[in-house]
Order: sequence, then structure tokens, then C-alpha cells
Amino acid sequence: MLQWGLMRKLWESKVSRRRLIGGAAATGAALPVLHELVPHNGIHGGASTAEAAVEHQRAAHSGSGHLGAVGRVDNAANGFDPHELVRDFDEGVVRNGVREWEILAENREIEVAPGVKYAAWTYNGRVPGPTLRAREGERLRVRFVNGSHHPHTMHFHGVHRDVMDGVPGVGAGNIDPGHSTVYEFDAVPFGLHLYHCHSTPLADHIAKGLYGAFVIDPKGGRPPADELVMVMNGFDTNFDRSNEVYAVNTVAFAYVNDPIEVKRGELVRIYLVNVLEFDFLNSFHIHANFFDYYPTGTKLEPRDFTDTVIQGQGERGILELRFPYPGRYMFHAHVSEFAELGWMGFFEVTG
Ligand code: CU
Ligand code: CU
Repeated sequence: MLQWGLMRKLWESKVSRRRLIGGAAATGAALPVLHELVPHNGIHGGASTAEAAVEHQRAAHSGSGHLGAVGRVDNAANGFDPHELVRDFDEGVVRNGVREWEILAENREIEVAPGVKYAAWTYNGRVPGPTLRAREGERLRVRFVNGSHHPHTMHFHGVHRDVMDGVPGVGAGNIDPGHSTVYEFDAVPFGLHLYHCHSTPLADHIAKGLYGAFVIDPKGGRPPADELVMVMNGFDTNFDRSNEVYAVNTVAFAYVNDPIEVKRGELVRIYLVNVLEFDFLNSFHIHANFFDYYPTGTKLEPRDFTDTVIQGQGERGILELRFPYPGRYMFHAHVSEFAELGWMGFFEVTG
């Protein structure tokens, strides 16, 4: 109970600070005021361009009735497109009965909302990193190469030996720039997991973009479906340990500008992962529909039939639904603030 009280207090102080920022933008004299209100305690300077871009987006939205971002993110420059990433599963290569991947950590500047650049740390050049997919019981081998300027690790959720857990001080521990290691473990239990860097400061290493979904299919598989990966994330563009941009699969409003196309009546399965830092809770809400929900995907029977699910940090689950009618259906975080700052999208249902 005590923890909940503290969480609410922190939450309220954060929300009231945000309101101040929003109010300043609405008056038009946004930037000078904004700089007084937003603490600059980060290690990086020169965040004002990103702040200006965020404020530009916010000002463009207020009172316009327009949903989504003004302008488009350059997916080609980013090197990844949320519309491809949403259906991209990386099954690696099977050699001598072992499923193998090669993962490279590298720095890369990415555009997370039109005009909003973020100096990300990436696995294989993308945020989120590749969605690694295996089958229950397989032996997995991940060769990790650190091509960035900071020590990193890969920490997988699952059941395995301590030396393969990817935390500093155990096994290979931190992998220094220019060095590599091999993580080897079995794919158990089946479900929807995640992997992320576990170097310190942990919140920074995750918030910078070093995370991805990790799917272990049950031995007997799941019924055929149109499968989607949605990693709920956010970006602290001014280093105040609070997010300015929220998204599913990194790019704010990506699926508002270009909805995710699905077929009427077809089973849609969503692998939903929450890797948001600095905010305790995230959520997913679908309009005009309900879904079966399988927390962590570790059971074959759904726990809930609902239209909204809440996930804490690191929590994930599988959603299954069918769209009975054609048309355009919204989905978004039911935390309205997140939705307004980018975590919103549409399904385009055809047929
Ligand atoms: Cu790291
Ligand atoms: Cu974790």
C-alpha cells in the first residue's frame, strides 16, 4: 500500500509539471519558459532542438482536432520502418541443431517523431531490436558483439544458468566496446519474453533503446494468425528522466499516419511488450472490439476477455482478436497523456 501511495505521489507531481509545460506552449511563448520549467540535469547538453520539435508538435495539435504528427519521419534514414518491423520475426539460423543469432550493439541517431532526433543505442541498428523467435526446448546461441562506445550486455528473460544471464560481474559480465561474447541457453519456458542490456545505470541503458521482444513458441505451436509485434516504448529527449515522446515500435503516431492493415474475420495475434522507462505503467486499449489476453503467453488458455490491459515495466502478454466489421479502428495507451504524445494508432480492416 505504501508503495502505491508513493507511486501516485510521483505520478501526480510529474503530471502537474507536464501541465505547466503544455500551458506554456499554448500561450505561444513556449521555449524560454520551457527552459525554466524543465530541469537540465542530464549528462548531455544541446537538447533544445529536440525540445523545440516536441513543442512544435504539441502546439500544432492543440485545438486543431488533428490526430497524429505533423510531417513524416524519414524511415529510410532511420534504417527501419515500424510498418515492416511490426510483422518482422527473426528466427535466426539453425546449425547442427542449435538456433543462432548474431547481435551487434551500435550507436545510431534515430528520428522518433517528425523533427525529433534521439541519440539511440541499438541492437542490430534498430529500436526495438530484432524480435527473436524460437521454439520451446531448443538450444539457443547468441553471439553478441559490442560495436558501440559503452560497455553493454544482453540479458534474456527465461530460465537459464547464472553465467548466461548477461548481468555485470557474473559470467562474461559487461562486454566492453570492441569485445564480444556468446550467450547459450535453452528456450524455456514458452511465452512472450524480452531481452535488454543490463549494464548500469540500468534505466539509461534500456531507455536508450537496447531491448527487444523474445518469442518462444510452444512445442505444439499456436493457431495460425496474422501476427504483430508491438513494443511500447518512450524517449526522454531532454534527459530529465521523464519521457517526451511515447510510441509503440518507436515512431510516434506511425500507425495513425499509415494504419496497420488487417483482414476482417481473420485471427490477429499481438505480442505486446512494455519496455517503458521512467513511467511505472503503460496500457493498451482497443476501440470497438475486445481481445483474449494471455499474460506472459505462458499458458494456452486466456486469462481475460477485455478491451484494455495494463502492463508494468518489463511486463508483456499476448492478445488475440478478430475484427467483425471493416473500417478504421483506433488503439492507444489508455494513459491519455501517452496517447497524445505519440502512443496511438489505427487498424485498417478490409474485406
Ligand atoms: Cu548497455
Ligand atoms: Cu528485464
